[in-house]
Amino acid sequence: MSNTIITIDGPVGSGKSTIGRLLAKRLGFVYLDTGAMYRVIALEARESGIDAADEAALAALCHEIKISFKQSEDQQLVFSSGRDVTGAIRTPEISMLASSISAVKSVRNALVALQREIGAHGGVVVDGRDAGTVIFPQARFKFYLDASVEIRAQRRYKEFIEKKINIDYNNLFLDIQKRDYDDSNRTIAPLKPAPGAVIIDTSSMTREDVLKAISLHIDLAKQPSLP
Ligand code: DC
Repeated sequence: MSNTIITIDGPVGSGKSTIGRLLAKRLGFVYLDTGAMYRVIALEARESGIDAADEAALAALCHEIKISFKQSEDQQLVFSSGRDVTGAIRTPEISMLASSISAVKSVRNALVALQREIGAHGGVVVDGRDAGTVIFPQARFKFYLDASVEIRAQRRYKEFIEKKINIDYNNLFLDIQKRDYDDSNRTIAPLKPAPGAVIIDTSSMTREDVLKAISLHIDLAKQPSLP
């Protein structure tokens, strides 16, 4: 198992980051949050006044910035060239910008190369939109989590409220709908289940239910087949 790659793809709010982090912890694997990488580039581009359509400047940014992660007790901290940007990359504005710049070819090329480097030796749970289709199509286990847009918006809303961040529910709902559409309809690496992925609708499942379903699938595949 130690060199195994597990991919978890799905739309915003499907539960993939929470599940990915907990599954990685349970297995002693590295958790790779590829969405956070697009968010870091979006944040840095915004702060440097780089336009979301400026391919060359965005590519240069991807090579200049060093993205790193650190696991704390209950979350994964994200750093941009040593600066803690864990909170700054989660605002609604950066979410939308990350979705826009993730459609830029030079950004995808740079980040996918980095993601493959990080996961090259396996022992990794990769969370994203194209983890099973593009980054690691050879992954041993591929999952695709989904849920209704209403449930996903409610989950995100609850997260913001718990962090005491004031947010308008209707705007959040519309942002999620737009991101779903954009992420699924872009030309390069659109969001879709990888061939052979196990698709789980998490709408009426608890976090524990989803973890159990995924763990069961992995455990069954590890068992020797019957004669
Ligand atoms: O998973 P997330 O919400 O943190 O991702 C932010 C955006 O980044 C998302 O709207 C689409 C993009 N993304 C991507 O294109 N490919 C990935 N592997 C991960 C995220």
